[in-house]
Amino acid sequence: MLILLCGFMGAGKTSKGKLLAAKLNSDYCDLDELIVKNTGMSVKDIFTNLGENEFRKIETDTLKRLIGQNMILSLGGGTLDKEENRTISKNAVVIYLNTPFETCYERISNSERPLVKTKSYEELKQLYNTRSQFYNECADIIVNTDLLNEDKSAVVAEIYRRLERYL
Ligand code: S3P
Repeated sequence: MLILLCGFMGAGKTSKGKLLAAKLNSDYCDLDELIVKNTGMSVKDIFTNLGENEFRKIETDTLKRLIGQNMILSLGGGTLDKEENRTISKNAVVIYLNTPFETCYERISNSERPLVKTKSYEELKQLYNTRSQFYNECADIIVNTDLLNEDKSAVVAEIYRRLERYL
Protein backbone atom coordinates (compact mmCIF):
# COMPACT_ATOMS: atom_id res chain seq x y z
CA MET A 1 0.00 0.00 0.00
CA LEU A 2 1.18 3.48 -0.86
CA ILE A 3 0.75 5.95 2.02
CA LEU A 4 1.14 9.64 1.18
CA LEU A 5 1.84 12.40 3.67
CA CYS A 6 0.65 15.82 2.57
CA GLY A 7 0.59 19.25 4.15
CA PHE A 8 2.19 22.67 3.82
CA MET A 9 5.95 23.26 3.92
CA GLY A 10 7.01 22.92 7.54
CA ALA A 11 4.07 20.72 8.57
CA GLY A 12 6.54 17.98 9.51
CA LYS A 13 5.90 15.51 6.67
CA THR A 14 9.48 14.23 6.63
CA SER A 15 9.99 13.78 10.37
CA LYS A 16 6.59 12.14 10.92
CA GLY A 17 6.93 10.05 7.75
CA LYS A 18 10.21 8.57 8.94
CA LEU A 19 8.82 7.78 12.39
CA LEU A 20 5.68 6.25 10.89
CA ALA A 21 7.73 4.10 8.52
CA ALA A 22 9.77 2.80 11.46
CA LYS A 23 6.58 1.99 13.37
CA LEU A 24 5.04 0.19 10.39
CA ASN A 25 8.33 -1.42 9.41
CA SER A 26 7.81 0.07 5.99
CA ASP A 27 10.02 1.77 3.42
CA TYR A 28 10.15 5.55 3.51
CA CYS A 29 10.74 7.99 0.65
CA ASP A 30 10.56 11.72 0.20
CA LEU A 31 9.35 12.92 -3.22
CA ASP A 32 11.83 15.82 -3.25
CA GLU A 33 14.69 13.47 -2.41
CA LEU A 34 13.72 11.17 -5.27
CA ILE A 35 13.62 14.15 -7.63
CA VAL A 36 17.10 15.19 -6.47
CA LYS A 37 18.37 11.63 -6.92
CA ASN A 38 16.84 11.23 -10.39
CA THR A 39 17.90 14.60 -11.77
CA GLY A 40 21.22 15.01 -9.97
CA MET A 41 20.12 18.58 -9.16
CA SER A 42 18.93 20.19 -5.93
CA VAL A 43 15.33 21.43 -5.74
CA LYS A 44 16.71 24.96 -5.50
CA ASP A 45 18.77 24.52 -8.68
CA ILE A 46 15.83 23.04 -10.57
CA PHE A 47 13.71 26.08 -9.64
CA THR A 48 16.51 28.52 -10.52
CA ASN A 49 17.78 26.93 -13.71
CA LEU A 50 14.75 25.15 -15.16
CA GLY A 51 11.87 27.01 -13.52
CA GLU A 52 8.96 25.98 -11.32
CA ASN A 53 6.92 24.57 -14.24
CA GLU A 54 9.68 22.12 -15.10
CA PHE A 55 9.98 21.16 -11.41
CA ARG A 56 6.22 20.45 -11.37
CA LYS A 57 6.54 18.22 -14.47
CA ILE A 58 9.39 16.25 -12.91
CA GLU A 59 7.40 16.04 -9.66
CA THR A 60 4.40 14.50 -11.43
CA ASP A 61 6.57 12.07 -13.46
CA THR A 62 8.31 10.94 -10.29
CA LEU A 63 5.02 10.50 -8.43
CA LYS A 64 3.45 8.52 -11.28
CA ARG A 65 6.22 5.94 -11.11
CA LEU A 66 5.42 5.24 -7.47
CA ILE A 67 1.78 4.21 -7.91
CA GLY A 68 1.27 0.71 -6.57
CA GLN A 69 4.41 0.65 -4.47
CA ASN A 70 4.44 -0.27 -0.79
CA MET A 71 5.91 2.65 1.05
CA ILE A 72 5.37 5.82 3.03
CA LEU A 73 5.98 8.81 0.79
CA SER A 74 6.19 12.45 1.86
CA LEU A 75 4.89 14.74 -0.87
CA GLY A 76 6.10 18.28 -1.43
CA GLY A 77 3.89 21.04 -0.06
CA GLY A 78 2.79 21.92 -3.60
CA THR A 79 2.34 18.45 -5.08
CA LEU A 80 -1.44 18.43 -4.68
CA ASP A 81 -1.85 21.84 -6.38
CA LYS A 82 -2.08 19.96 -9.66
CA GLU A 83 -5.31 18.17 -10.50
CA GLU A 84 -3.39 15.33 -12.14
CA ASN A 85 -1.55 14.66 -8.89
CA ARG A 86 -4.76 14.82 -6.89
CA THR A 87 -6.18 12.14 -9.19
CA ILE A 88 -3.04 10.02 -8.73
CA SER A 89 -3.43 10.36 -4.96
CA LYS A 90 -6.69 8.40 -5.17
CA ASN A 91 -4.51 5.29 -5.57
CA ALA A 92 -3.06 5.79 -2.12
CA VAL A 93 -4.07 6.42 1.48
CA VAL A 94 -3.51 10.13 2.01
CA ILE A 95 -2.65 11.56 5.42
CA TYR A 96 -2.93 15.32 5.86
CA LEU A 97 -0.77 16.89 8.53
CA ASN A 98 -2.83 19.97 9.31
CA THR A 99 -0.47 22.36 11.06
CA PRO A 100 -1.29 26.05 11.69
CA PHE A 101 0.29 28.51 9.28
CA GLU A 102 2.23 30.33 12.00
CA THR A 103 3.89 27.10 13.12
CA CYS A 104 4.81 26.19 9.54
CA TYR A 105 6.09 29.71 8.91
CA GLU A 106 8.30 29.64 12.00
CA ARG A 107 9.87 26.40 10.75
CA ILE A 108 10.41 27.48 7.13
CA SER A 109 11.12 31.20 7.28
CA ASN A 110 14.89 30.74 7.47
CA SER A 111 15.05 27.81 5.09
CA GLU A 112 16.41 27.70 1.55
CA ARG A 113 13.09 26.63 0.02
CA PRO A 114 12.71 28.48 -3.31
CA LEU A 115 9.12 29.59 -2.65
CA VAL A 116 10.03 30.93 0.79
CA LYS A 117 12.86 32.95 -0.76
CA THR A 118 10.60 34.52 -3.39
CA LYS A 119 7.29 35.02 -1.57
CA SER A 120 6.28 37.42 1.19
CA TYR A 121 4.68 36.35 4.46
CA GLU A 122 1.24 37.39 3.11
CA GLU A 123 1.75 35.50 -0.15
CA LEU A 124 2.76 32.35 1.71
CA LYS A 125 -0.28 32.68 3.95
CA GLN A 126 -2.49 32.98 0.86
CA LEU A 127 -0.83 29.91 -0.63
CA TYR A 128 -1.41 28.05 2.63
CA ASN A 129 -5.13 28.90 2.52
CA THR A 130 -5.51 27.85 -1.13
CA ARG A 131 -3.66 24.61 -0.60
CA SER A 132 -5.59 23.70 2.55
CA GLN A 133 -8.60 23.04 0.31
CA PHE A 134 -6.62 20.59 -1.81
CA TYR A 135 -5.17 18.78 1.19
CA ASN A 136 -8.63 18.44 2.71
CA GLU A 137 -10.08 17.22 -0.58
CA CYS A 138 -7.49 14.44 -0.98
CA ALA A 139 -7.11 13.34 2.63
CA ASP A 140 -8.36 10.03 3.98
CA ILE A 141 -6.97 10.90 7.41
CA ILE A 142 -6.54 14.42 8.80
CA VAL A 143 -4.40 14.98 11.86
CA ASN A 144 -4.50 18.41 13.52
CA THR A 145 -0.98 18.51 14.85
CA ASP A 146 -1.58 21.54 17.11
CA LEU A 147 -4.21 19.62 19.08
CA LEU A 148 -1.43 17.17 19.89
CA ASN A 149 0.90 20.03 20.90
CA GLU A 150 3.11 19.28 17.87
CA ASP A 151 4.36 16.24 19.77
CA LYS A 152 5.94 13.98 17.12
CA SER A 153 5.29 10.69 18.89
CA ALA A 154 1.68 11.62 19.65
CA VAL A 155 1.07 12.61 16.02
CA VAL A 156 2.56 9.38 14.74
CA ALA A 157 0.59 7.32 17.29
CA GLU A 158 -2.61 9.03 16.14
CA ILE A 159 -1.84 8.38 12.46
CA TYR A 160 -1.04 4.75 13.29
CA ARG A 161 -4.30 4.30 15.19
CA ARG A 162 -6.37 5.72 12.34
CA LEU A 163 -4.45 3.81 9.66
CA GLU A 164 -5.35 0.44 11.15
CA ARG A 165 -8.56 0.14 9.16
CA TYR A 166 -6.58 0.52 5.92
CA LEU A 167 -3.86 -2.01 6.74
C1 S3P B 1 7.30 23.13 -2.33
C2 S3P B 1 7.61 22.42 -1.20
C3 S3P B 1 8.90 21.74 -1.04
C4 S3P B 1 9.50 21.39 -2.39
C5 S3P B 1 9.56 22.60 -3.26
C6 S3P B 1 8.20 23.21 -3.51
C7 S3P B 1 5.99 23.81 -2.39
O1 S3P B 1 8.72 20.55 -0.25
O2 S3P B 1 8.75 20.39 -3.03
O3 S3P B 1 10.42 23.53 -2.64
O4 S3P B 1 5.53 24.15 -3.49
O5 S3P B 1 5.37 23.97 -1.30
P1 S3P B 1 8.41 20.56 1.35
O6 S3P B 1 6.93 20.72 1.53
O7 S3P B 1 8.89 19.23 1.80
O8 S3P B 1 9.16 21.68 1.94
